[in-house]
Amino acid sequence: MVEWIFVVLIVMGVLFAVKLLYVLATVSAHPITQGALFVPTANIRVTTFLDAVPMRSGDFLVDIGCGDGRVLRAARRRYGVSALGFEVNLLAYLIAKVRSLGIEGIQVRWRNFWKVHLRDANVVFCYLFPDVMERLAKKLEAELRTGTRVVSCNFPIPGWKPLEVLFPDSSLHDDPIYVYRFPDSCRSIRTDRKETAQLSSS
Ligand SMILES: C[S@@+](CC[C@H](N)C(=O)[O-])C[C@H]1O[C@@H](n2cnc3c(N)ncnc32)[C@H](O)[C@@H]1O
Repeated sequence: MVEWIFVVLIVMGVLFAVKLLYVLATVSAHPITQGALFVPTANIRVTTFLDAVPMRSGDFLVDIGCGDGRVLRAARRRYGVSALGFEVNLLAYLIAKVRSLGIEGIQVRWRNFWKVHLRDANVVFCYLFPDVMERLAKKLEAELRTGTRVVSCNFPIPGWKPLEVLFPDSSLHDDPIYVYRFPDSCRSIRTDRKETAQLSSS
């Protein structure tokens, strides 16, 4: 009986320590993440993304805010792509690092993605927060190469027109996933606006 109480106390202590770590890591990263918490994308959503966005082994996927790195590993497993993740939440970064140990073609860096140029990516994945999406649109427009696909979980990129909006087949995880291609996704919306303006002025 005494042993059981001891075991329960240890389990509770470990759970408490993990929770405390999560809170500390989240609070200290907050000035950079501006609300994008470490919430991993559900596996069914990762699968939906991979089904809809085929890649080749020479492709370079960047997850800006990679959490535990699951998107990097899943894309590497499915398509053999090279994959790079940036993460500023220390707990998330350490989990991603440990879970990706020894997997060739995957890099995880403890870095603020706003300070990194995205020119080498040809697939960009993100699951961020509405407050940063306007700024993200400007960064992507300034840095991406023609043909780069951009996938945003839950929140659309303002001013961009998605090629496709995916809804995973799950009642629990059915928030939209927006798929874009640069620069067509920005151009088409500008053309639409221009045409509307021309129509209304004629
Ligand atoms: C909602 S989670 C998504 C994690 C992962 N992309 C996934 O889909 O499973 C967002 C992550 O982005 C990270 N993040 C937010 N802003 C960042 C920044 N400027 N640089 C690096 N990581 C950032 C957060 O710490 C958080 O772990």
